[in-house]
Amino acid sequence: MAKIVHSLVEFFSTVGLPTVLIFVAVLLLSLWMLSSKNPRVNWPPGPVCFPVVGCLPQMMISGRRRQPTDLLPWYDTYGDIIHVKFGEQHAILLGTHELIQEAFVKNAATVSDRPTWIYFIRQIVGKDGAGVIFKSGHEWKELRRFTLSSLRDLGLGRKSLQERIQDEARYLVQNIEDENGKAFSPRDRVGKAVSNIIATIVFGVRHDYNDTPELLPVLEQALRAGEGIELFTNLARFLMPMKKIMALVDRLYSLIRQEVDRHRQSFDPTDIRDFIDLFIKVTQEEQDPEIYAEWNVFRIIVDLYLAGTDTTANTLRWSLIHMVNQLDVQKRVQQEIDQVIGQGRVAKMEDKAEMPFTEATILEVLRISPVVPLGVPHATSETINLDGYTIPKGTMILGDLYRVLHDKNNFEDPYKFKPERWLDDNSKVIKSDKLIPFSIGPRACLGKGLAEMELFIFLTTMLQNFTFKVPEGEKPPDGVEGFNASTFTPYDYNVCAVRR
Ligand code: HEM
Repeated sequence: MAKIVHSLVEFFSTVGLPTVLIFVAVLLLSLWMLSSKNPRVNWPPGPVCFPVVGCLPQMMISGRRRQPTDLLPWYDTYGDIIHVKFGEQHAILLGTHELIQEAFVKNAATVSDRPTWIYFIRQIVGKDGAGVIFKSGHEWKELRRFTLSSLRDLGLGRKSLQERIQDEARYLVQNIEDENGKAFSPRDRVGKAVSNIIATIVFGVRHDYNDTPELLPVLEQALRAGEGIELFTNLARFLMPMKKIMALVDRLYSLIRQEVDRHRQSFDPTDIRDFIDLFIKVTQEEQDPEIYAEWNVFRIIVDLYLAGTDTTANTLRWSLIHMVNQLDVQKRVQQEIDQVIGQGRVAKMEDKAEMPFTEATILEVLRISPVVPLGVPHATSETINLDGYTIPKGTMILGDLYRVLHDKNNFEDPYKFKPERWLDDNSKVIKSDKLIPFSIGPRACLGKGLAEMELFIFLTTMLQNFTFKVPEGEKPPDGVEGFNASTFTPYDYNVCAVRR
Protein backbone atom coordinates (compact mmCIF):
# COMPACT_ATOMS: atom_id res chain seq x y z
CA MET A 1 0.00 0.00 0.00
CA ALA A 2 2.73 2.44 1.03
CA LYS A 3 4.46 1.62 -2.26
CA ILE A 4 1.33 2.47 -4.30
CA VAL A 5 0.85 5.76 -2.44
CA HIS A 6 4.52 6.60 -2.95
CA SER A 7 4.28 5.91 -6.73
CA LEU A 8 1.10 8.00 -7.02
CA VAL A 9 2.72 10.94 -5.22
CA GLU A 10 5.74 10.63 -7.50
CA PHE A 11 3.49 10.47 -10.61
CA PHE A 12 1.43 13.53 -9.60
CA SER A 13 4.49 15.58 -8.72
CA THR A 14 5.81 15.02 -12.26
CA VAL A 15 2.55 15.84 -14.15
CA GLY A 16 1.79 19.16 -12.39
CA LEU A 17 -1.21 20.69 -10.60
CA PRO A 18 -3.60 21.26 -13.57
CA THR A 19 -3.41 17.57 -14.55
CA VAL A 20 -4.03 16.52 -10.95
CA LEU A 21 -7.10 18.78 -10.78
CA ILE A 22 -8.47 17.39 -14.08
CA PHE A 23 -7.83 13.85 -12.82
CA VAL A 24 -9.72 14.53 -9.56
CA ALA A 25 -12.60 16.20 -11.43
CA VAL A 26 -12.97 13.25 -13.86
CA LEU A 27 -12.83 10.80 -10.95
CA LEU A 28 -15.54 12.65 -9.01
CA LEU A 29 -17.72 13.01 -12.12
CA SER A 30 -17.47 9.27 -12.86
CA LEU A 31 -18.27 8.37 -9.26
CA TRP A 32 -21.24 10.73 -9.33
CA MET A 33 -22.53 9.36 -12.64
CA LEU A 34 -22.18 5.80 -11.36
CA SER A 35 -23.97 6.64 -8.11
CA SER A 36 -26.83 8.45 -9.86
CA LYS A 37 -27.34 5.68 -12.44
CA ASN A 38 -29.66 3.69 -10.30
CA PRO A 39 -32.22 2.26 -12.74
CA ARG A 40 -34.82 1.79 -10.01
CA VAL A 41 -34.80 5.48 -9.11
CA ASN A 42 -36.82 7.82 -11.25
CA TRP A 43 -36.24 11.29 -9.78
CA PRO A 44 -38.55 14.21 -10.58
CA PRO A 45 -37.01 16.95 -12.73
CA GLY A 46 -34.75 19.49 -11.08
CA PRO A 47 -31.68 21.67 -11.51
CA VAL A 48 -28.31 20.15 -12.49
CA CYS A 49 -26.60 18.75 -9.43
CA PHE A 50 -22.80 18.75 -9.22
CA PRO A 51 -20.67 16.18 -7.45
CA VAL A 52 -20.10 16.85 -3.74
CA VAL A 53 -21.88 20.23 -3.66
CA GLY A 54 -25.15 19.18 -5.40
CA CYS A 55 -27.15 22.26 -6.43
CA LEU A 56 -25.85 24.48 -3.67
CA PRO A 57 -23.98 26.74 -6.13
CA GLN A 58 -27.24 27.62 -7.95
CA MET A 59 -28.99 28.10 -4.62
CA MET A 60 -26.25 30.35 -3.37
CA ILE A 61 -26.36 32.45 -6.54
CA SER A 62 -30.13 32.73 -6.82
CA GLY A 63 -30.65 32.80 -3.08
CA ARG A 64 -28.01 35.26 -2.04
CA ARG A 65 -30.56 37.01 0.14
CA ARG A 66 -31.97 33.65 1.22
CA GLN A 67 -35.63 34.63 1.07
CA PRO A 68 -38.40 31.99 0.90
CA THR A 69 -39.20 33.50 -2.51
CA ASP A 70 -35.80 32.46 -3.89
CA LEU A 71 -36.94 28.94 -4.76
CA LEU A 72 -40.14 29.99 -6.54
CA PRO A 73 -38.65 30.41 -10.07
CA TRP A 74 -37.65 26.73 -10.02
CA TYR A 75 -41.29 25.66 -10.00
CA ASP A 76 -41.81 27.58 -13.26
CA THR A 77 -38.87 25.72 -14.82
CA TYR A 78 -39.25 22.19 -13.42
CA GLY A 79 -42.87 21.82 -12.29
CA ASP A 80 -44.52 21.33 -8.90
CA ILE A 81 -42.32 18.49 -7.65
CA ILE A 82 -38.56 19.06 -7.83
CA HIS A 83 -35.50 16.92 -7.16
CA VAL A 84 -32.53 18.78 -5.67
CA LYS A 85 -29.32 17.77 -3.97
CA PHE A 86 -28.08 19.61 -0.91
CA GLY A 87 -24.47 18.50 -1.13
CA GLU A 88 -24.76 14.71 -1.37
CA GLN A 89 -28.22 14.65 0.22
CA HIS A 90 -31.11 13.98 -2.16
CA ALA A 91 -34.19 16.05 -1.41
CA ILE A 92 -37.63 16.56 -2.91
CA LEU A 93 -39.43 19.89 -2.86
CA LEU A 94 -43.23 19.67 -2.92
CA GLY A 95 -44.81 22.88 -4.20
CA THR A 96 -48.57 22.24 -4.10
CA HIS A 97 -51.11 21.45 -1.43
CA GLU A 98 -52.11 18.27 -3.33
CA LEU A 99 -48.54 16.94 -3.34
CA ILE A 100 -47.98 17.77 0.32
CA GLN A 101 -51.28 16.07 1.10
CA GLU A 102 -50.23 12.99 -0.88
CA ALA A 103 -46.89 12.81 0.92
CA PHE A 104 -47.63 13.92 4.51
CA VAL A 105 -51.19 12.56 4.82
CA LYS A 106 -51.79 9.69 2.35
CA ASN A 107 -48.23 8.37 2.63
CA ALA A 108 -47.81 9.40 6.29
CA ALA A 109 -46.72 5.86 7.24
CA THR A 110 -43.58 6.23 5.09
CA VAL A 111 -43.01 10.02 4.94
CA SER A 112 -43.05 10.95 8.64
CA ASP A 113 -39.44 10.29 9.64
CA ARG A 114 -36.90 13.05 10.24
CA PRO A 115 -33.51 13.02 8.43
CA THR A 116 -31.49 12.68 11.63
CA TRP A 117 -28.43 11.58 9.65
CA ILE A 118 -27.92 15.16 8.43
CA TYR A 119 -24.85 16.71 9.99
CA PHE A 120 -26.55 19.63 11.75
CA ILE A 121 -29.36 17.54 13.28
CA ARG A 122 -26.91 14.75 14.19
CA GLN A 123 -24.70 17.24 16.04
CA ILE A 124 -27.60 18.55 18.08
CA VAL A 125 -29.58 15.42 18.95
CA GLY A 126 -27.39 12.46 17.94
CA LYS A 127 -27.81 10.10 14.99
CA ASP A 128 -30.86 8.32 16.47
CA GLY A 129 -32.70 11.60 17.03
CA ALA A 130 -34.43 12.50 20.29
CA GLY A 131 -37.44 14.27 21.77
CA VAL A 132 -40.47 14.95 19.63
CA ILE A 133 -39.26 17.16 16.76
CA PHE A 134 -36.25 15.01 15.84
CA LYS A 135 -37.40 11.47 16.58
CA SER A 136 -38.76 8.95 14.08
CA GLY A 137 -40.81 5.73 14.08
CA HIS A 138 -42.87 4.29 16.92
CA GLU A 139 -40.79 6.11 19.56
CA TRP A 140 -41.74 9.47 18.00
CA LYS A 141 -45.43 8.45 17.99
CA GLU A 142 -45.32 7.58 21.68
CA LEU A 143 -43.34 10.70 22.64
CA ARG A 144 -45.69 12.93 20.63
CA ARG A 145 -48.71 11.35 22.34
CA PHE A 146 -47.02 11.88 25.72
CA THR A 147 -46.20 15.54 24.90
CA LEU A 148 -49.75 16.32 23.79
CA SER A 149 -51.36 14.71 26.82
CA SER A 150 -48.87 16.44 29.14
CA LEU A 151 -49.66 19.82 27.57
CA ARG A 152 -53.35 19.13 28.12
CA ASP A 153 -52.72 18.16 31.76
CA LEU A 154 -50.69 21.33 32.23
CA GLY A 155 -53.52 23.55 31.09
CA LEU A 156 -53.60 23.67 27.28
CA GLY A 157 -57.22 24.03 26.21
CA ARG A 158 -58.20 24.82 29.80
CA LYS A 159 -59.16 28.11 31.31
CA SER A 160 -56.01 28.37 33.41
CA LEU A 161 -53.78 28.76 30.37
CA GLN A 162 -56.06 31.37 28.85
CA GLU A 163 -55.83 33.34 32.10
CA ARG A 164 -52.03 33.19 31.99
CA ILE A 165 -52.04 34.57 28.44
CA GLN A 166 -54.49 37.32 29.44
CA ASP A 167 -52.24 38.30 32.39
CA GLU A 168 -49.20 38.34 30.13
CA ALA A 169 -51.06 40.48 27.59
CA ARG A 170 -51.73 43.04 30.39
CA TYR A 171 -47.99 43.08 31.27
CA LEU A 172 -47.19 43.58 27.60
CA VAL A 173 -49.55 46.56 27.38
CA GLN A 174 -48.02 48.12 30.54
CA ASN A 175 -44.57 47.69 29.08
CA ILE A 176 -45.54 49.28 25.76
CA GLU A 177 -47.21 52.12 27.67
CA ASP A 178 -43.85 52.98 29.26
CA GLU A 179 -42.69 54.16 25.82
CA ASN A 180 -45.19 57.07 26.00
CA GLY A 181 -45.96 57.00 22.27
CA LYS A 182 -42.29 57.34 21.31
CA ALA A 183 -40.68 55.19 18.58
CA PHE A 184 -39.54 51.76 19.86
CA SER A 185 -38.74 48.31 18.51
CA PRO A 186 -41.46 45.80 19.52
CA ARG A 187 -39.12 42.89 18.80
CA ASP A 188 -37.83 42.01 22.28
CA ARG A 189 -40.93 42.67 24.36
CA VAL A 190 -43.09 40.56 22.03
CA GLY A 191 -40.45 37.82 22.31
CA LYS A 192 -40.45 38.06 26.11
CA ALA A 193 -44.26 37.94 26.36
CA VAL A 194 -44.48 34.80 24.20
CA SER A 195 -41.49 33.17 25.88
CA ASN A 196 -43.14 33.74 29.29
CA ILE A 197 -46.14 31.61 28.23
CA ILE A 198 -44.14 28.57 27.20
CA ALA A 199 -41.81 29.17 30.17
CA THR A 200 -44.72 28.93 32.64
CA ILE A 201 -45.80 25.63 31.05
CA VAL A 202 -42.32 24.14 30.88
CA PHE A 203 -40.36 25.78 33.73
CA GLY A 204 -43.19 27.09 35.91
CA VAL A 205 -41.87 30.67 35.91
CA ARG A 206 -42.36 33.95 34.09
CA HIS A 207 -39.80 36.75 34.09
CA ASP A 208 -40.20 40.47 34.33
CA TYR A 209 -39.33 42.21 31.04
CA ASN A 210 -36.38 44.00 32.66
CA ASP A 211 -35.02 40.75 34.06
CA THR A 212 -34.50 38.53 31.04
CA PRO A 213 -33.08 35.10 31.85
CA GLU A 214 -30.06 34.13 29.74
CA LEU A 215 -32.09 31.32 28.16
CA LEU A 216 -34.03 33.52 25.72
CA PRO A 217 -31.13 35.39 24.08
CA VAL A 218 -29.17 32.13 23.87
CA LEU A 219 -32.09 30.43 22.13
CA GLU A 220 -32.58 33.34 19.73
CA GLN A 221 -28.90 33.51 18.85
CA ALA A 222 -28.78 29.73 18.25
CA LEU A 223 -31.84 29.89 15.99
CA ARG A 224 -30.37 32.74 13.93
CA ALA A 225 -26.80 31.46 13.70
CA GLY A 226 -27.33 29.17 10.69
CA GLU A 227 -29.01 30.40 7.55
CA GLY A 228 -31.58 28.80 5.23
CA ILE A 229 -30.98 25.74 3.19
CA GLU A 230 -27.35 25.22 4.22
CA LEU A 231 -28.66 23.89 7.53
CA PHE A 232 -29.79 20.77 5.64
CA THR A 233 -26.50 19.83 4.00
CA ASN A 234 -23.69 17.71 5.30
CA LEU A 235 -21.44 20.56 4.19
CA ALA A 236 -22.84 22.64 7.06
CA ARG A 237 -19.62 21.91 8.93
CA PHE A 238 -17.77 24.09 6.37
CA LEU A 239 -20.53 26.58 5.51
CA MET A 240 -21.88 27.45 8.94
CA PRO A 241 -20.28 28.69 12.16
CA MET A 242 -20.73 25.27 13.77
CA LYS A 243 -18.38 26.01 16.68
CA LYS A 244 -20.44 29.03 17.65
CA ILE A 245 -23.74 27.17 17.16
CA MET A 246 -22.61 24.20 19.25
CA ALA A 247 -21.37 26.50 22.03
CA LEU A 248 -24.82 28.13 22.11
CA VAL A 249 -26.60 24.76 22.07
CA ASP A 250 -24.38 23.51 24.94
CA ARG A 251 -25.17 26.66 26.92
CA LEU A 252 -28.89 26.18 26.24
CA TYR A 253 -28.71 22.58 27.46
CA SER A 254 -26.77 23.55 30.58
CA LEU A 255 -29.23 26.37 31.48
CA ILE A 256 -32.14 23.92 31.14
CA ARG A 257 -30.26 21.34 33.25
CA GLN A 258 -29.89 24.01 35.96
CA GLU A 259 -33.69 24.42 35.89
CA VAL A 260 -34.13 20.65 36.22
CA ASP A 261 -31.77 20.62 39.26
CA ARG A 262 -33.69 23.51 40.81
CA HIS A 263 -36.93 21.56 40.38
CA ARG A 264 -35.47 18.36 41.87
CA GLN A 265 -34.91 20.17 45.19
CA SER A 266 -38.64 20.83 45.70
CA PHE A 267 -40.08 17.95 43.63
CA ASP A 268 -43.30 16.40 44.95
CA PRO A 269 -44.77 13.57 42.80
CA THR A 270 -48.28 14.37 44.03
CA ASP A 271 -48.04 18.02 42.90
CA ILE A 272 -46.87 18.29 39.29
CA ARG A 273 -46.30 22.00 38.65
CA ASP A 274 -44.91 22.05 35.12
CA PHE A 275 -43.30 20.01 32.33
CA ILE A 276 -39.97 19.72 34.19
CA ASP A 277 -41.75 18.06 37.14
CA LEU A 278 -43.28 15.64 34.63
CA PHE A 279 -39.79 14.99 33.24
CA ILE A 280 -38.53 14.09 36.73
CA LYS A 281 -41.58 11.87 37.33
CA VAL A 282 -41.50 9.85 34.09
CA THR A 283 -37.75 9.36 34.11
CA GLN A 284 -37.94 8.12 37.73
CA GLU A 285 -40.84 5.73 37.07
CA GLU A 286 -38.75 3.68 34.66
CA GLN A 287 -41.70 2.68 32.48
CA ASP A 288 -40.55 1.84 28.96
CA PRO A 289 -37.01 3.10 29.72
CA GLU A 290 -35.98 3.20 26.07
CA ILE A 291 -38.71 5.60 25.07
CA TYR A 292 -38.79 7.62 28.27
CA ALA A 293 -35.01 7.80 28.41
CA GLU A 294 -33.73 10.94 30.11
CA TRP A 295 -32.30 12.32 26.85
CA ASN A 296 -35.63 11.95 25.01
CA VAL A 297 -37.71 13.67 27.66
CA PHE A 298 -35.03 16.34 28.19
CA ARG A 299 -35.13 17.08 24.47
CA ILE A 300 -38.93 17.50 24.62
CA ILE A 301 -38.35 20.35 27.11
CA VAL A 302 -35.92 21.92 24.63
CA ASP A 303 -38.31 21.25 21.70
CA LEU A 304 -41.27 22.94 23.36
CA TYR A 305 -39.25 25.99 24.30
CA LEU A 306 -37.58 26.13 20.90
CA ALA A 307 -40.70 25.53 18.78
CA GLY A 308 -43.04 27.52 21.00
CA THR A 309 -41.16 30.81 21.30
CA ASP A 310 -39.76 32.18 18.05
CA THR A 311 -42.62 30.92 15.84
CA THR A 312 -45.46 32.69 17.66
CA ALA A 313 -43.33 35.75 18.48
CA ASN A 314 -42.38 36.18 14.82
CA THR A 315 -46.01 35.83 13.73
CA LEU A 316 -46.92 38.64 16.14
CA ARG A 317 -43.98 40.73 14.89
CA TRP A 318 -45.21 40.27 11.28
CA SER A 319 -48.76 41.12 12.46
CA LEU A 320 -47.66 44.53 13.74
CA ILE A 321 -45.90 45.19 10.42
CA HIS A 322 -49.11 44.48 8.50
CA MET A 323 -51.08 46.65 10.93
CA VAL A 324 -48.85 49.71 10.52
CA ASN A 325 -48.71 49.23 6.76
CA GLN A 326 -52.54 48.82 6.46
CA LEU A 327 -54.00 51.35 8.88
CA ASP A 328 -57.50 50.73 7.45
CA VAL A 329 -57.27 47.05 8.47
CA GLN A 330 -56.02 48.03 11.93
CA LYS A 331 -58.98 50.40 12.29
CA ARG A 332 -61.52 47.74 11.31
CA VAL A 333 -60.06 45.30 13.86
CA GLN A 334 -60.25 48.03 16.52
CA GLN A 335 -63.90 48.76 15.66
CA GLU A 336 -64.70 45.08 16.13
CA ILE A 337 -62.81 45.02 19.43
CA ASP A 338 -64.76 48.06 20.63
CA GLN A 339 -68.09 46.44 19.69
CA VAL A 340 -67.45 42.98 21.13
CA ILE A 341 -64.97 43.48 23.98
CA GLY A 342 -65.03 47.19 24.75
CA GLN A 343 -62.34 48.76 26.95
CA GLY A 344 -63.29 47.19 30.28
CA ARG A 345 -61.83 43.68 29.98
CA VAL A 346 -59.24 41.54 28.20
CA ALA A 347 -60.15 39.38 25.17
CA LYS A 348 -61.08 35.73 25.69
CA MET A 349 -61.26 32.92 23.14
CA GLU A 350 -65.09 32.91 23.16
CA ASP A 351 -64.96 36.43 21.64
CA LYS A 352 -63.35 35.09 18.48
CA ALA A 353 -66.62 33.66 17.14
CA GLU A 354 -68.09 37.16 17.19
CA MET A 355 -65.05 38.83 15.62
CA PRO A 356 -64.82 37.51 12.06
CA PHE A 357 -62.74 40.40 10.72
CA THR A 358 -60.14 39.97 13.48
CA GLU A 359 -60.03 36.23 12.83
CA ALA A 360 -59.66 36.89 9.08
CA THR A 361 -56.79 39.30 9.81
CA ILE A 362 -54.91 36.68 11.82
CA LEU A 363 -55.49 34.04 9.09
CA GLU A 364 -54.11 36.50 6.54
CA VAL A 365 -50.96 37.09 8.64
CA LEU A 366 -50.43 33.31 8.91
CA ARG A 367 -50.85 33.04 5.13
CA ILE A 368 -48.73 35.92 3.94
CA SER A 369 -45.94 35.61 6.54
CA PRO A 370 -45.51 31.89 7.32
CA VAL A 371 -42.76 31.68 9.91
CA VAL A 372 -41.64 28.14 8.98
CA PRO A 373 -41.67 28.55 5.18
CA LEU A 374 -40.31 25.09 4.25
CA GLY A 375 -41.74 23.32 7.29
CA VAL A 376 -39.45 20.96 9.21
CA PRO A 377 -37.80 18.37 6.92
CA HIS A 378 -39.46 14.96 6.65
CA ALA A 379 -37.71 11.80 5.37
CA THR A 380 -38.84 8.59 3.68
CA SER A 381 -38.58 5.41 5.76
CA GLU A 382 -39.26 3.23 2.67
CA THR A 383 -39.07 3.65 -1.10
CA ILE A 384 -42.31 5.32 -2.19
CA ASN A 385 -44.13 6.30 -5.32
CA LEU A 386 -45.03 9.98 -5.39
CA ASP A 387 -46.79 11.58 -8.35
CA GLY A 388 -45.42 8.83 -10.64
CA TYR A 389 -41.81 9.16 -9.39
CA THR A 390 -39.91 6.58 -7.37
CA ILE A 391 -38.40 8.19 -4.30
CA PRO A 392 -35.93 5.99 -2.42
CA LYS A 393 -35.80 5.37 1.31
CA GLY A 394 -33.69 7.96 3.11
CA THR A 395 -34.69 10.94 0.94
CA MET A 396 -35.42 14.30 2.55
CA ILE A 397 -38.91 15.64 1.72
CA LEU A 398 -39.69 19.33 2.11
CA GLY A 399 -43.22 20.70 1.89
CA ASP A 400 -42.91 24.21 0.47
CA LEU A 401 -45.60 25.81 2.63
CA TYR A 402 -44.55 29.27 1.42
CA ARG A 403 -45.28 28.38 -2.19
CA VAL A 404 -48.72 26.93 -1.40
CA LEU A 405 -49.58 30.08 0.58
CA HIS A 406 -48.37 32.38 -2.23
CA ASP A 407 -49.64 30.42 -5.23
CA LYS A 408 -52.01 32.57 -7.27
CA ASN A 409 -54.02 29.45 -8.11
CA ASN A 410 -54.88 29.23 -4.41
CA PHE A 411 -55.00 32.92 -3.45
CA GLU A 412 -55.67 35.84 -5.77
CA ASP A 413 -53.05 38.62 -5.46
CA PRO A 414 -51.00 36.47 -3.10
CA TYR A 415 -48.60 39.28 -2.08
CA LYS A 416 -51.45 41.62 -1.08
CA PHE A 417 -52.54 41.68 2.55
CA LYS A 418 -56.31 41.22 2.21
CA PRO A 419 -58.19 39.88 5.27
CA GLU A 420 -61.44 40.17 3.24
CA ARG A 421 -60.40 37.10 1.25
CA TRP A 422 -61.31 35.06 4.35
CA LEU A 423 -64.86 36.41 4.60
CA ASP A 424 -67.92 35.34 2.60
CA ASP A 425 -70.83 37.64 1.60
CA ASN A 426 -72.38 37.16 5.04
CA SER A 427 -69.10 38.13 6.76
CA LYS A 428 -68.60 34.55 7.93
CA VAL A 429 -65.03 33.22 8.04
CA ILE A 430 -64.17 30.95 5.08
CA LYS A 431 -62.09 27.86 5.89
CA SER A 432 -59.57 26.77 3.28
CA ASP A 433 -57.55 23.55 3.26
CA LYS A 434 -54.82 25.52 1.40
CA LEU A 435 -54.00 27.49 4.56
CA ILE A 436 -51.23 25.27 5.90
CA PRO A 437 -48.71 27.36 7.91
CA PHE A 438 -48.73 24.62 10.59
CA SER A 439 -48.24 21.87 7.94
CA ILE A 440 -50.55 18.84 7.71
CA GLY A 441 -50.66 15.15 8.61
CA PRO A 442 -49.57 13.37 11.79
CA ARG A 443 -46.37 15.46 12.00
CA ALA A 444 -48.23 18.79 11.84
CA CYS A 445 -47.48 21.37 14.53
CA LEU A 446 -48.58 20.15 17.94
CA GLY A 447 -48.66 23.67 19.37
CA LYS A 448 -51.26 25.01 16.89
CA GLY A 449 -53.98 25.44 19.54
CA LEU A 450 -51.62 27.27 21.89
CA ALA A 451 -50.29 29.47 19.09
CA GLU A 452 -53.82 30.42 17.98
CA MET A 453 -54.81 31.36 21.52
CA GLU A 454 -51.69 33.50 21.98
CA LEU A 455 -52.08 35.24 18.60
CA PHE A 456 -55.72 36.14 19.26
CA ILE A 457 -55.31 37.37 22.85
CA PHE A 458 -51.99 39.21 22.39
CA LEU A 459 -52.97 40.94 19.14
CA THR A 460 -56.45 42.03 20.25
CA THR A 461 -55.15 43.29 23.62
CA MET A 462 -52.45 45.36 21.91
CA LEU A 463 -54.91 46.85 19.39
CA GLN A 464 -57.52 47.41 22.10
CA ASN A 465 -55.09 49.68 23.91
CA PHE A 466 -52.97 51.28 21.18
CA THR A 467 -52.95 52.40 17.58
CA PHE A 468 -49.64 51.39 16.05
CA LYS A 469 -48.00 53.68 13.49
CA VAL A 470 -44.78 54.01 11.53
CA PRO A 471 -42.70 56.68 13.37
CA GLU A 472 -42.53 59.97 11.53
CA GLY A 473 -39.65 60.20 9.12
CA GLU A 474 -39.06 56.39 9.16
CA LYS A 475 -39.65 54.03 6.23
CA PRO A 476 -42.58 51.57 6.55
CA PRO A 477 -41.27 48.14 7.57
CA ASP A 478 -40.71 45.45 4.93
CA GLY A 479 -43.75 43.14 4.83
CA VAL A 480 -42.29 40.53 2.42
CA GLU A 481 -38.58 40.03 3.03
CA GLY A 482 -36.95 39.10 6.30
CA PHE A 483 -34.21 37.05 7.85
CA ASN A 484 -34.70 33.39 6.96
CA ALA A 485 -32.90 31.10 9.41
CA SER A 486 -34.63 28.37 11.47
CA THR A 487 -37.70 30.61 11.42
CA PHE A 488 -38.63 33.51 9.15
CA THR A 489 -38.07 36.71 11.15
CA PRO A 490 -38.89 40.24 9.99
CA TYR A 491 -36.05 42.74 9.80
CA ASP A 492 -36.01 44.89 12.90
CA TYR A 493 -38.33 47.91 12.75
CA ASN A 494 -39.75 50.65 14.97
CA VAL A 495 -43.34 51.61 15.71
CA CYS A 496 -45.10 54.26 17.79
CA ALA A 497 -47.90 52.99 20.03
CA VAL A 498 -50.43 55.78 20.54
CA ARG A 499 -52.78 55.24 23.52
CA ARG A 500 -56.41 54.88 22.37
C1 HEM B 1 -47.54 30.57 14.68
C2 HEM B 1 -46.94 29.64 15.37
C3 HEM B 1 -46.45 28.32 14.85
C4 HEM B 1 -46.27 27.89 13.55
C5 HEM B 1 -46.56 28.63 12.25
C6 HEM B 1 -45.74 26.52 13.63
C7 HEM B 1 -45.44 25.73 12.54
C8 HEM B 1 -44.93 24.44 12.61
C9 HEM B 1 -44.56 23.63 11.48
C10 HEM B 1 -44.69 24.06 10.01
C11 HEM B 1 -44.10 22.45 11.95
C12 HEM B 1 -43.55 21.27 11.11
C13 HEM B 1 -44.60 20.23 10.83
C14 HEM B 1 -44.09 19.11 9.93
O1 HEM B 1 -43.04 18.55 10.21
O2 HEM B 1 -44.75 18.80 8.92
C15 HEM B 1 -44.18 22.50 13.39
C16 HEM B 1 -43.82 21.46 14.22
C17 HEM B 1 -43.86 21.54 15.60
N1 HEM B 1 -44.33 22.58 16.36
FE1 HEM B 1 -45.06 24.35 15.67
N2 HEM B 1 -45.62 26.18 14.96
C18 HEM B 1 -46.04 27.24 15.73
C19 HEM B 1 -46.11 27.29 17.12
C20 HEM B 1 -45.79 26.25 17.97
C21 HEM B 1 -45.93 26.29 19.41
C22 HEM B 1 -46.51 27.45 20.23
C23 HEM B 1 -45.45 25.10 19.89
C24 HEM B 1 -45.35 24.68 21.34
C25 HEM B 1 -46.10 23.96 21.99
C26 HEM B 1 -45.03 24.30 18.74
C27 HEM B 1 -44.52 23.02 18.80
C28 HEM B 1 -44.17 22.25 17.69
C29 HEM B 1 -43.60 20.92 17.80
C30 HEM B 1 -43.25 20.18 19.09
C31 HEM B 1 -43.41 20.46 16.47
C32 HEM B 1 -42.85 19.11 16.03
C33 HEM B 1 -43.98 18.11 15.83
C34 HEM B 1 -43.49 16.72 15.42
O3 HEM B 1 -42.37 16.62 14.92
O4 HEM B 1 -44.23 15.76 15.64
N3 HEM B 1 -45.26 25.04 17.59
N4 HEM B 1 -44.70 23.73 13.78
